[in-house]
Amino acid sequence: MTSRETPFSTPVGVAQYGGARAVKRCDTLGIAPYSEEEGGLFRPYLSNAYRETVQCVSVWMKEAGMTTRQDAAGNLVGRYEGSLPGAPALLIGSHLDSVRNAGRYDGPLGVMLGIEAVAYFSAHKKRLPFAVEVIGFGDEEGSRFPVSMLTSRAVAGLIPTPPDILRDAAGITLQEALGAEGFLLEEFPKAARNKKDVLAYFEAHIEQGPVLESENRAVGAVTAIAAQYRFLISIHGFAGHAGTMPMHLRQDALAAAAESMLAIEAIALQKAGDLVATVGRLDVTPGVPNVVPGDVVFTLDIRSGTESIRNEAADTIRVALNDIAKKRHVELSMELQQDLPATPCDPALTEALSKAIEKVTGGSARKLVSGAGHDAMVMAALAPVCMLFVRCEKGISHNPAEAVTAADVESAFQVMINFIESYADSCSARQEKMA
Ligand code: GLV
Ligand code: MN
Ligand code: MN
Repeated sequence: MTSRETPFSTPVGVAQYGGARAVKRCDTLGIAPYSEEEGGLFRPYLSNAYRETVQCVSVWMKEAGMTTRQDAAGNLVGRYEGSLPGAPALLIGSHLDSVRNAGRYDGPLGVMLGIEAVAYFSAHKKRLPFAVEVIGFGDEEGSRFPVSMLTSRAVAGLIPTPPDILRDAAGITLQEALGAEGFLLEEFPKAARNKKDVLAYFEAHIEQGPVLESENRAVGAVTAIAAQYRFLISIHGFAGHAGTMPMHLRQDALAAAAESMLAIEAIALQKAGDLVATVGRLDVTPGVPNVVPGDVVFTLDIRSGTESIRNEAADTIRVALNDIAKKRHVELSMELQQDLPATPCDPALTEALSKAIEKVTGGSARKLVSGAGHDAMVMAALAPVCMLFVRCEKGISHNPAEAVTAADVESAFQVMINFIESYADSCSARQEKMA
């Protein structure tokens, strides 16, 4: 199916705004042409699937009453003017890219909910004392280039120098990938927003964990997002003949990597609390059955809600891996590729969000820390941020089995409307006081 044949408009029988439509639209985006892979979802930054998705979502934004544009980093931005044109904006966003073999809701759900919120105000012909902008970020996952959140970092003004050394797995540079889609690497930092034009950033996202489900809650308020490190670890041994190289003379890079991975797991298990450490990718060279592996490169992702715990774990891992390398007579290097500090959400906004949750659900608001990374981590450098979590089935994410219910997403939608309306009331009250 080409994008031109895609049913952009709301199907007959589906409400013109609300949770059910947000879910339906995420499902629409879960297959080709919005995925690079048939039979599964993979939508990397600046791919054909990403281009098709931007085209489709921008039509949905226009239908909701927004004007749309792509910024210099390829993010899709929709704007719904406030009562005074050109007013500063409340940004509502999440990401449109995905991991390989992804679920359908990690990212797009937050964008779709932003569109639904605008569709609601638009349908009620209501203008707010600020503009609302919905942003679909192009790269949050880092599933194409070796670092993540490239495009929200551009918006937050955190990329003064274009990262022109980045290459994807096929060797395509960021410059080439941008160029193929009509963007320029030199212009990338121009996606940065001016602080005076942005009031706050709001992100709705599936929880990607089991807490809300275990407590039978549809939604929760995020208080902070865990600190992250991404390392690239390279082990250089000596390639040899699998039939003739005696075991005691080998410098097997893969065996050293295997021992390293078990050490990493043991260190993370020993540290009590929320520390997690993950080896998610491993490349073996030459990677054939009859050669002792000479080189291995693997990734290491370390996270904790407490930065010092993450940092200490990284130091302990570094010492353990160097010991393993020494014992096995291989060379090992550990290159830090990404350091995202722990990010607290804005307390006042989180309190207002909790009140909206209480109004909609009739119960207390669950507050929780996010172990997953989000664009909000980066946007916190630009504006105060807050995040709403939506329950997902069994806490499963980064997996095609990711699932949400339309009823929970409808609750999230109601919470957003409630939150935006009370935020508008407090802005109006402030404006009157100043007048
Ligand atoms: C993104 O989903 C991350 O937490 O890495
Ligand atoms: Mn993700
Ligand atoms: Mn996400």
